[in-house]
Amino acid sequence: MKYLLMNASPQLEGSNSLVLAKAFLEGSGWKDIEYIDLYKLKIGFCRGCFSCWTNSPGQCVLQDDWNPILKFLSEHDCTCIFSFPLYTFAFPAILKAALDRRLPMCDSDIVVDEKGYPHHPSRYPDRITRYVFISSCGFPVVHGNYEGLREVVRLEFRGLATELYCPMGGILKQDALPVQKRLELFRWAGGEYARTGAVSKDIQEAVSQPVIPIELYTEQAKQSFAKRRKSHV
Ligand SMILES: Cc1cc2nc3c(=O)[nH]c(=O)nc-3n(C[C@H](O)[C@H](O)[C@H](O)COP(=O)(O)O)c2cc1C
Repeated sequence: MKYLLMNASPQLEGSNSLVLAKAFLEGSGWKDIEYIDLYKLKIGFCRGCFSCWTNSPGQCVLQDDWNPILKFLSEHDCTCIFSFPLYTFAFPAILKAALDRRLPMCDSDIVVDEKGYPHHPSRYPDRITRYVFISSCGFPVVHGNYEGLREVVRLEFRGLATELYCPMGGILKQDALPVQKRLELFRWAGGEYARTGAVSKDIQEAVSQPVIPIELYTEQAKQSFAKRRKSHV
């Protein structure tokens, strides 16, 4: 099994969410984790031409930095860890582009499962690809914020994805006790995932709770933006 951490924050190494993903990976104990900053790569938008299902099965017509990643996924069993901010209640654009570009990994067949949900089967049925979605957001709550994204993950990844979403991204790089405790939970989640291939509902719920009292966070956020505005005049 290979491990691929894909950072989909334009803040690159300065990303709030990456702090969580790094704690998760630390807890997992995995070695040799490949790291990619998606925002440093050239990843075009899917053109919807379906050439990857017709003229050149499994191959995308676009020639860019996503193709080596697709090749890697087709050749190895892989755990993909996506680290990303919540943007407009959804994936940031580069991650949506990357997820759309997984189309060559599917077959054109349409299968409707026993629950009535449609999907295209994998072109590589013997290949295992698992996904871990780790994200922070700016609002102080996960509830009422991640529902749309959760639904997309449920429909597209069909039980192959684990989701860990944490609110109050703005404080995750602070060296405060509540933040350290949250990172400890992410380490725990990483260990649990490495041992069992899943993270328990209790831990998923615990990481999604406010890190500090909501009023304190909103006040800190207000002051932080006011300070940054002042330093620009
Ligand atoms: C364009 C844009 C859209 C955003 N949309 C949301 C949102 O819908 N909900 C939310 O809670 N935070 C939102 N945020 C805040 C980010 O999710 C938050 O700052 C996050 O911690 C950034 O993570 P990163 O440092 O890993 O990029 C948005 C930020 C930007 C720049």
